[in-house]
Amino acid sequence: MASILLTGGAGYIGSHTYVALCEAGHQVTILDDFSNADRSVPQRLQQITGAPVRCLEGSVLDTKFLAGVFAGQRFDAVVHFAARKAVGESVEKPLDYIETNCQGLITLLRAMEQAGVFRLVFSSSATVYGIPDETPTPETAPRRAMNPYGFTKIAGEGILEQLGQNDPRWAFGTLRYFNPAGAHSSALIGEDPSDIPNNLMPFIARVATGDLPELAVFGDDYDTPDGTGVRDYIHVEDLAHGHVLSLQALLRENESHLVNLGTGRGYSVLEMLAAYSRACGRDLPYRIAPRRAGDVPVYCAIPDKARALLGFQARRDLDDMCRSSWNWISGPHAAGKSG
Ligand code: UD1
Repeated sequence: MASILLTGGAGYIGSHTYVALCEAGHQVTILDDFSNADRSVPQRLQQITGAPVRCLEGSVLDTKFLAGVFAGQRFDAVVHFAARKAVGESVEKPLDYIETNCQGLITLLRAMEQAGVFRLVFSSSATVYGIPDETPTPETAPRRAMNPYGFTKIAGEGILEQLGQNDPRWAFGTLRYFNPAGAHSSALIGEDPSDIPNNLMPFIARVATGDLPELAVFGDDYDTPDGTGVRDYIHVEDLAHGHVLSLQALLRENESHLVNLGTGRGYSVLEMLAAYSRACGRDLPYRIAPRRAGDVPVYCAIPDKARALLGFQARRDLDDMCRSSWNWISGPHAAGKSG
């Protein structure tokens, strides 16, 4: 059993990872500023795990607060989710994104160094590939920033690489997520943004509940089997399990790794819509709209490295993602906001 600090642990992926870490027998403390998470998440996590949830409220930008967190408890490692993640907003507020995602990371690393904690799992994204030359995409593909959000993930990876290469005390698990989807099987936590969703599955979910009239399919003239964009969707519970494996590898080997977390299988927008229609029991309305600026035709992982290094393999399929999302969004707990 290890003692883990989970920053951003009340958010969408963070809350699922909390459950996975507890199930793996670890002792977990959440740190969250609740800027994009619902305040009832800790209580719902307690319902899922059947144990009290230790949750500290504060920001990774707050040096004093972090020093207090590390002074109050001995941690073996940190899993770091606390960051901003909306691409469009990052274009409007680049400095906010650089501040939270880069300065927040550095402030956290400093606090860790002072406390003698040298293992961290980092949330990266397939967005670091920009428009990839090859799909499916291996980890060796070049990194290209398409927007400030992507820049902050590339910068974060670079900061960790420099630290790892030059100071042997550190070891990092860098995880490049493809497209997380679905919700926890309990329907107690999931993704439900308070604004109109940008991402596909939460948008379809809101069409399914009747809150939004129809899905706008952004382009049907891509060079893909049905002309719509293809993505590698991965169930959020599988993704959460990937963090457990990454953490355990760090604690076991004390050696850094950088891997894609995806399934290796892509689905088109229309395939997603059809799968969600099956899950909610009715054909969901859509219209074909112009392409969205900056969109890529296909994003798909080569997942082999995560399997070889961590023993990671996604187990849940598209129907599981849609069914769990529908159970969550049509249940009593989705209230606008992730987590
Ligand atoms: C987006 C971000 C990516 C980020 C990821 C986080 C952009 C351009 N990319 O990825 O940087 O890491 O979210 O999860 O914002 N679609 C529709 N109608 C909609 C919404 C989406 O047709 O209303 C389509 C898109 O064109 C795309 C697919 O659905 O083909 C998936 O879109 P989305 O869920 O936004 O994810 P990404 O674009 O892959």
